[in-house]
Amino acid sequence: MSTERETIGVIGVGWVGLVTAACFAELGHRVIARDIVPEKVEALSRGETMIHEPGLDELLRKNADRLTFTTEMGEVLDAASLLFVCVDTPPTHSGDDDLSRVRTVVDELDADGDHVLVMKSTVPAGTGNAIRRDLPNLAYVSCPEFLKEGSAVADFLHPDRVVIGADPGDEAAGAMVADLYEPLGGELVQTDVTSAEMIKLASNAFLATKISFINEIANVCEEVGADVGEVSRGMGLDERIGPRFLSAGIGWGGSCFGKDTIALKKLAGNSGYHFQLLSAVIEVNELQKRRVIGKLKKHLGSLAGRRIALLGLAFKPETDDMRDASSLVLAGRLEGEGAEPVAYDPIAAGRARQLLPTVELAPSALDALDGAEAAVLVTEWPEFAEIDWREAAGRMARPLLVDGRNFLDADELRAAGFEYEGIGRAVSAAAAPSRAD
Ligand SMILES: NC(=O)c1ccc[n+]([C@@H]2O[C@H](COP(=O)([O-])OP(=O)(O)OC[C@H]3O[C@@H](n4cnc5c(N)ncnc54)[C@H](O)[C@@H]3O)[C@@H](O)[C@H]2O)c1
Repeated sequence: MSTERETIGVIGVGWVGLVTAACFAELGHRVIARDIVPEKVEALSRGETMIHEPGLDELLRKNADRLTFTTEMGEVLDAASLLFVCVDTPPTHSGDDDLSRVRTVVDELDADGDHVLVMKSTVPAGTGNAIRRDLPNLAYVSCPEFLKEGSAVADFLHPDRVVIGADPGDEAAGAMVADLYEPLGGELVQTDVTSAEMIKLASNAFLATKISFINEIANVCEEVGADVGEVSRGMGLDERIGPRFLSAGIGWGGSCFGKDTIALKKLAGNSGYHFQLLSAVIEVNELQKRRVIGKLKKHLGSLAGRRIALLGLAFKPETDDMRDASSLVLAGRLEGEGAEPVAYDPIAAGRARQLLPTVELAPSALDALDGAEAAVLVTEWPEFAEIDWREAAGRMARPLLVDGRNFLDADELRAAGFEYEGIGRAVSAAAAPSRAD
């Protein structure tokens, strides 16, 4: 590896920015990363991270001498010519992406400087062109990020593909960014800026569509007595379909799918096109989270006054991110029904205290299950597979479990005395109580 490396500027050190900074440092570059939250910058400068992401702490520690964190944009502009913008683009009330943070960054740039702005934040198609019109001397490259929380470091270091959008005049800047990613070996997609922006939005919308599709299939499986696990397996072996993102459950969450699908739908609408398919994809996801309430009521009748345990709060395992998590909808619906939710998550409790202030948080899964009249598995944390379900059944007021991720062994649960409900999971002959008895 060459010792002569580019100094890279990273603007915004949340999930994407911090992983980007740590991984470029791992590749041998000096990185200067800026955030506007002083406490975050101070903590990172002390070597403390505020997000849970496998392998990230280790990379930050190992490459500490190549990483600088600052609140000052001027320091970044002085030290680096390549500026990776990783600020958040949350939804506005209209559902369009809120680009105010991106705009703040652009406004701080020197219009006559020789910086390359590399947009990693997810932005609506057309954003790059608009920025370029405002700052004609700036080189602009779209380099959307595809990492998944929970495996963000590995995804960054081993990308399926690297998308680089650069318009005529910015080819050299695009080539500089391509060089940075070259050691990682992903397939390079070099295209124009607007197409690069669309690749990101279309990819997330497609994955969301795949999940909503299999969730609807699961709901039909429940009606006709088929098992969605078998259906997914049979479908996924077709290489045109593939097995991934074909697991039925209680809907997607996280910071990206919801926001990006709505933003794409709005983007289409703003341009005069009604994206019908995405409307359905979004609605199916909303309804899927709520179907759990119906499953609980089928067994319990009214939920008023009932203690219901939620196992897992993060939107998926290996992260403490609760943005748009299914747990938030479930907890809200349970409280709306008059139930008393009690929740446990191995690492998201800190965030849950702020987001779900009225929900009791238990120190362990068994504590959450203690005295509960039902449990819902919300996040497929590996430790839930290790629970002593016989002991859990003894501790619960009623051993009823809705497995929102089809994660547990239904036969084992039933043998332990549980009433078990999955999502689109048929009661197999071997598992049916009549046979087991
Ligand atoms: N989280 C993901 O899994 C993921 C994956 C791919 C793409 N993205 C996209 O990447 C972008 C960032 O997402 P995230 O999850 O890292 O967001 P985040 O909210 O975790 O982090 C954004 C950071 O930017 C900082 N910030 C805001 N304005 C700033 C400014 N003017 N200067 C410097 N810092 C500023 C915030 O303080 C925050 O620390 C979004 O557009 C998102 O859609 C996210």
